[in-house]
Amino acid sequence: MIISRFTNQLLAWYPDHKRDLPWRYTRDPYIIWLSEIILQQTRVVQGLPYFELFLQRFPTIFDLAAAAEGEVLRCWQGLGYYSRARNLHACAKEIVRERNGKFPQSYEGLLKLKGVGPYTAAAIASFAFLEPKAVLDGNVYRVLSRYFGVYSDIGSGQGKRDFEKLAAEVLSKEQPDIYNQAIMEFGSLQCTPQQPDCGSCPLVSTCFAFANKAVGELPVKLGR
Ligand code: ADE
Repeated sequence: MIISRFTNQLLAWYPDHKRDLPWRYTRDPYIIWLSEIILQQTRVVQGLPYFELFLQRFPTIFDLAAAAEGEVLRCWQGLGYYSRARNLHACAKEIVRERNGKFPQSYEGLLKLKGVGPYTAAAIASFAFLEPKAVLDGNVYRVLSRYFGVYSDIGSGQGKRDFEKLAAEVLSKEQPDIYNQAIMEFGSLQCTPQQPDCGSCPLVSTCFAFANKAVGELPVKLGR
């Protein structure tokens, strides 16, 4: 009961608060993959111009696969973590060579791609193919741990499994794409790491961390 309430409140919050971001208008796995690789270690405002540049220079996966690695790296200049660009290019070449340019259509298939981990595979599977697979990133850990009062250590294997289980339970199976965007957006804009604005939060009346003055201690992240 509390679970569907959480999910419904996030889905209700999202349309009125979401940022207008270009990768939210497509189901093309190439465009979604490109945006998610760029955003892996990069903030949205910093990644946006690179996303636009890449789409302009390489409108399809065939254009990216045909490019010289030097050109791809030049376009990436300034973003850092250059292994992302090398993986991006290698991955495009492999998908064109071995799959005629068609992306794997499932979470499990996507996970096999170079540079695509569990977060990115879940993002592409849900945004492009509406597969009911929950994303787990720093935003999601924070929102779930605070709202449900989960004290599992997000740096431990057991902690990750605890959050995976909860994330799968609260995921909207009808709108996994919108729900995944919504919980990440809620973590970025409302349930922020420092000084979240609990006064304006639509979930405050049922939030564990707010009721228990535990906002500052969640999520638990122990040093290694
Ligand atoms: N960060 C990573 N993926 C994102 C997305 N799809 N929208 C906004 N921020 C993101």
